[in-house]
Formats: sequence, structure tokens, C-alpha cells
Amino acid sequence: MTKLRSQDWFGLKGKYGFLYRAWMKNQGIPDDEFMGKPVIGICNTWSELTPCNGHFRELAEAVKKGVWEAGGFPLEFPVMSLGETLIKPTAMLYRNLMSMDVEESIRANPIDGVVLLCGCDKTTPASVMGACSTDIPSIVVSGGPMLTGKYEGRSIATSDVWRFAEGVKQGTFTEEAFREAEACMCRSDGHCAVMGTASTMACMVESLGLTLPGNAAIPAADSRRKVLAQFSGRRIVEMVREDMTISKILTREAFENAIKVNAAIGGSTNFVLHLLAIAGRMEIPLTLDDFDLLGSKIPLLVNLQPSGEYFMEDFYYAGGLPAVINQLQDHLHSNIITVTGKTVQENNAGAKIYSPDVIAPIETPFQEHAGIVVVRGNLAERGSVIKPSAATKNLMKHRGKAVVFEDIEDYHARINDDDLEVNASSVLVLKNVGPKGYPGMPEVGNMGLPKKLLAEGVTDMVRISDGRMSGTAFGTVFLHVAPESADGGNLALVQNGDEIEVDVEKKLLHLHVSDQELQKRRAEWQAPDLGFHRGYIGHYIKHVQQADLGVDLDFLRGKSGNVVIRDSH
Ligand code: FES
Repeated sequence: MTKLRSQDWFGLKGKYGFLYRAWMKNQGIPDDEFMGKPVIGICNTWSELTPCNGHFRELAEAVKKGVWEAGGFPLEFPVMSLGETLIKPTAMLYRNLMSMDVEESIRANPIDGVVLLCGCDKTTPASVMGACSTDIPSIVVSGGPMLTGKYEGRSIATSDVWRFAEGVKQGTFTEEAFREAEACMCRSDGHCAVMGTASTMACMVESLGLTLPGNAAIPAADSRRKVLAQFSGRRIVEMVREDMTISKILTREAFENAIKVNAAIGGSTNFVLHLLAIAGRMEIPLTLDDFDLLGSKIPLLVNLQPSGEYFMEDFYYAGGLPAVINQLQDHLHSNIITVTGKTVQENNAGAKIYSPDVIAPIETPFQEHAGIVVVRGNLAERGSVIKPSAATKNLMKHRGKAVVFEDIEDYHARINDDDLEVNASSVLVLKNVGPKGYPGMPEVGNMGLPKKLLAEGVTDMVRISDGRMSGTAFGTVFLHVAPESADGGNLALVQNGDEIEVDVEKKLLHLHVSDQELQKRRAEWQAPDLGFHRGYIGHYIKHVQQADLGVDLDFLRGKSGNVVIRDSH
């Protein structure tokens, strides 16, 4: 074991050692805890404002048990938490801020290894990004999904919210029923119960090798979640002794595995942004094209909402992520090391599929090709993404006239106007919902359809924006257009009635307007100014990178290690 960094605090003689230990002892800690035991930070995103992580204090206790059993000294600390449902204008605006909190909290304190407790969407990438920039031994424990909701005898979860809301709009679902469904859906601890962004993130960290096998799918309310937390507590102590830092796990091969696994599970499009940002912290070259090249050859093996039928609870009972990884062995880098100290292959060999309706064997997948497709063209010169498994097949090659909304307020003001000139073949275009333009890139890309078209029975339309889409949503939706409209991308120049062509097979997103006309429009274009000039948001707008780079702040890319550079003692 290399020297413990915590000993630069607790191992000191004289006045400063006294000060560091004495103030800890007011918490009733005996002296022998300071005698060279690995100090394990439990980085807790618990908050009553983050309901998906509301059970994390209990989970932290289970981690502590494991740390003590293995001879470590656990210390739990809070960091900023991001609750997807409550935070306005969007939790994504604060992902990078939270990652700074995690990074600086780890580096500034006597921590030798860290357990990251993550749940609701952004809490996972933010925690991992922060830990990456310190490069200390790190293990993730996810909070787990909620139990499947039950409403009037049928299973429901977050993806149904979109359907219920459209039902209310069409008058087929009453306000009272809508209200009743709320409690039926969220009936236990945990995060969204579909393959939304939180579940995708839990699968991402497992496929990167940052968790014990099986972490992603165990429901929050299942007692085995606490067992996994306890085992993770034991393991992080060993990892410190083995000096197994995060950079030994997060190799280029690990990122490639994560992309392939994400394709097989039908994971959220948000995965692209978060994995790119994590790779940026690790200084691993990863581009948007890697997602397309590596993911598009992978079959869809998981039948979960929003692309499919089932829920995370079913996924767990069907074998969970180990069963999927085992099916993908021939596609993955199976010999790379994970936090267990074992390889991907050793961790998952023999993992069985118990319900082929939920997890398909690789020989008979639900779809031959899955993954996220990257399209380009004069409308998205640095790319845009679509998730074909959640789209309508006959709309993936389409040409139609643009119906343009200048911003989200314009969209809300006009989408249900009976006079809006729109039909089923129109292409809905939403501007100024990108990283800078909103700011924070909200999940509004799957904009709801016009009421009058819903009444005609239209269920999907081509939609294009520089925003994101909730991992729980679906539709023929082109997202993350880069450069975004507020940064001068051609998206800013689209006008009502322009012809737009999309072709997912040819990976094309083209605006049929001449270069000359675009130049003319550009000369008249002015970047929007929403008046955010001070504080974190002002700083964020100045430094945020575009979607093709993961929406991290430019000065946060890379790592600074775990050495405290200045020490007044
Ligand atoms: Fe927290 Fe969906 S709202 S995971």
C-alpha cells in the first residue's frame, strides 16, 4: 500500500495533528481510528429535494458497515444534490457545478478512497466527473430504481407521464385520474423505474467497471441493495490498499464497453453527453462518432420502456446487467480490470437470462441494430443525435416544411393555437434550448405535439432542437444539435416553411436553403442575450462547451490529481 494521504492530516505529530484529530473526536471517534486506517469518504447526494436519493442516509450506513469490517474508517460527507424533478430551470445547468463540489471536497479533505452514492440522473455523472479529476480509488453505489408503479391493475412508470399528459390534452384522461396516478407511480424509494437517464447512468457506471456486478438494477427497496452497499464498503478499503485509482479502470477500452452496453440496453441519449464529459476529465480521446461506430453494430437486447415494454424491476429479476454483459462478451473488451480487481469476463461469466421477454439472447435480439445514431448536415455541422429504438420507423427518412419556435416560451404560446399552420408531415423546430441558449440544455426536445394533430390521431412527428430529451421519453426526435442556435449554428437561421430533410440511414440532417440565403440570414442574426452576466450562470455561459464535447466547462476538462498543492503546516 502506498502512503495514505489521510496521514498528512491524522498521522501528524505536534499541534496540527492534535487539531486535526481533536475536532474529529468530538463526534465520539476513538483514537485507534486515526492510526493509519484507510479513510473512506462516502460522498452522499442525499437530499429531501432529490426524492430519488431520499434513502441515501440508510444506504450510507450499509456502506459504513462494510468499511469498518474491512478495517477502514468511514466518513460521510454531503455534496450538492441535483433532483431532476424540482430543480429549475434544469438540473443539467448545475451538473458541472456539482462535479466541482465533489472534486474539491475530495481533494481538500483527508480521504484515501471514495464511495460515490448516486441516483437521480445528474448525480451520477457529476459525482464520477469530480472523482475522475482527483484520481483516487473510487467505487459507485447506485440508489436503485423504484418498484414498478401499479395503476388500475396495470404497470406504470415515468414514460406513462407523457401518455397521461397527452390523454388529458385530448380529453381521454381526466384530471382526477391524472392526480391519482401520481401516487400509484412513485410508491417506493428509488429513481425512475424505466430505462431513463438514471437507470442508463447506473448501467453506464457498471459497464465502465466502476461498481460491483449487478449494481444497476437492484430495486432501491430490495434488501439486496443494502448488501451491495456493504460489499462496496468492504471493497473500497481493499482498493485503497491496492492503490487501484480510477484511472486504472477508466481506460479507452472501458469507454468502448460502456458505449456498446448502452446500445444493447436502449439507453438514454443523455448518455452521450455524460460519457463525453467523463472522458474529457480522464483525458481519454472519445468523439461523437465513436458512439455511432461502436454502438450501431450492437443488437438491442433489453425490452424496457421507453423503447420497449418492461421496467427496471423486471430487468433485475430477468438477470440484470450481468446477463446482458455476458451475452455481449464477444463484442466487449472482456479482459479489462474493474473495481472488483477482476476482469469484465470474470465478473459476469455465467450470468443467466431468466426472462427472455425482458433480456433477449444475442442470437435472437429485439432489434438487429440499436445504439444512438449521429446525423450531420448543414443543420448540424458538429452533429445531432437520435435514438432510433424510440423513434417511428417511417419518419426516420422524411422531408417536410419547418414550423419554427424561436424559444420555449414561443413554443408554449403557439403549439396549441388552432391557427398554427402545421400538419403531420411538418418538422417542428425548437431553437435556443441548447447549453448556452436556455441556458442549461433542458429536456424539451421531445416537444408535445399540437393538440389539433393529436385529435386527428397523429402520434409522432419529426422534431429537431439543440436541447435534450428525457431518457424516459420517445419519438422521432433529433437532439443536441451542434453548434446550437445561440452559438450561431445554422439552426438559428431556419425559418417557417423551409424544407428540412432527415435520413437516419444516410445520417443526414439537411436544410434545403441555399448557402447564399443562409449568409444573408446570418448577416441579420443577433445572438440572444437573456441577461445572465454574473455568478455561476454567467460563468457557465462563457465557458460551457457544445454538446459534441459533453457540455462540460472548458476549464474543468482534465484532472488535477489529489495532491494538496499549498499546505500552511
Ligand atoms: Fe430522479 Fe427520474 S426524477 S431519476
